[in-house]
Amino acid sequence: MGIIENLSVAILSAGAGTRMKSQLPKVLHELAGIPMVHYVVREAQKISNDVNIIVGHRADEVKKSIENKFENINFIQQDLENFAGTGGALRDLNPKNKWVLIINGDTPLVKHDELIKFINSRDENINIILGVLSLENPKGYGRVVTSNDGKIIKIVEERDASEHEKNINLVNSGVYLILADLLKKYVYLLNNENSQREFYLTDIVALAKNDGIETSIYKLSEKIFKGVNNRVELSDAEEIILDRIREKIMLNGTTIHLPKTVYIEESVEFIGENEIESGVSIYGKSKIINSIIKSGSVIESSYIEKSSIGVIAHIRPDSKIVDSKVGNFVEVKKSKLTGVKAGHLSYLGDSEIDTDTNIGAGVITANYDGKNKYKTKIGKNVFVGSDSQLIAPVEIPDNVMIGAGSTIPSRTQIESGSLVISRGNVRIIKNFFYKFFTTK
Ligand code: UD1
Ligand code: MG
Repeated sequence: MGIIENLSVAILSAGAGTRMKSQLPKVLHELAGIPMVHYVVREAQKISNDVNIIVGHRADEVKKSIENKFENINFIQQDLENFAGTGGALRDLNPKNKWVLIINGDTPLVKHDELIKFINSRDENINIILGVLSLENPKGYGRVVTSNDGKIIKIVEERDASEHEKNINLVNSGVYLILADLLKKYVYLLNNENSQREFYLTDIVALAKNDGIETSIYKLSEKIFKGVNNRVELSDAEEIILDRIREKIMLNGTTIHLPKTVYIEESVEFIGENEIESGVSIYGKSKIINSIIKSGSVIESSYIEKSSIGVIAHIRPDSKIVDSKVGNFVEVKKSKLTGVKAGHLSYLGDSEIDTDTNIGAGVITANYDGKNKYKTKIGKNVFVGSDSQLIAPVEIPDNVMIGAGSTIPSRTQIESGSLVISRGNVRIIKNFFYKFFTTK
């Protein structure tokens, strides 16, 4: 498998996606952290050396998002004012190759090996193949009208369909393979005489039929080719992508409890044996090695090795946690913890904490003075008593004990072996309680 000679790809991504009810162009809505159209571009580049993307609505945003991630993409600007619609989208396409695979940018579940099967299904004398889905609920799709002998007559959009046609379960997936010359010819023959006043690409099928050119149909799987037009379909498609991610991780040695409740982005890497409890979310470029991530924890672009995280811990970007135990309600940000225990209710930000150090409940590294952020460094074998605040920048050397409830001012010089304690003296005023509450 690989690049198919003679194949160009056109990805339709110029529509506004009004059904998303969003400022963001539809194809930039994300599934598991990746914009919808990126999935399509990625698969297209696996099979073709000529990938064309049709942009129009908010073209610059769409282009920029794709250019940030992919090289060698050809962008084509659609004239949305005069030639709106999926047919209008292809007027200015100049494919380099003999065949064109057309696919919608709102089909993020697509897999290149399925596209290859689709392309290879072509019989020698066939010049157009249409990818179809057979759906229990065909709502929203263009219906494929066939004759008694199963030959395709036309595609009719739902808005233009008769009641009878609406009952057809065979629908257009939006994936076509067509001879480039034929596409060029028919795209100019389309009209916009339909309910949306748009140039429908789908009408090519009927035009070809009039010329005696047969379109063959190929059944595709809904789980791979379904389109996303609104946010319900977006979440349905995301669920399928998450299923794929979670399945791969589990097969590679990570146990996931209640997987449907666990959100993991594709960019997350798992090495060795791991365990993930319910309700966990892991984002970005995280790496999880031989660790357990307990219920309700959130990890963002961080490195976790031989550690236990949570329940309900928040590990924010650029943290590195090795041989450590981070417990409930602990927030760690841009910090390096090696061999550390931080069991409860802490904020550890911009800090570096070394082996055998214990962070008591409620300890806070005060890293921000309202203008700048500063670092906290805590050495080996330090005992930080509960409810202490370390005001950064500050450095605690090895073998130090900090008494519970202490506030350690920034730049405090501390020697190894010390006890550091800052606490108001205890005052006891006898009988105060009774006087206060009984006298009027
Ligand atoms: C389209 C098909 C429908 C099919 C369905 C499959 C047409 C007329 N209808 O309907 O038969 O069942 O896909 O998912 O083709 N786009 C442009 N320029 C435009 C309009 C749209 O590039 O002027 C792009 C959109 O960004 C989108 C894709 O084309 O990625 C499809 O457009 P959309 O509006 O989603 O069409 P559907 O109603 O889904
Ligand atoms: Mg669509």
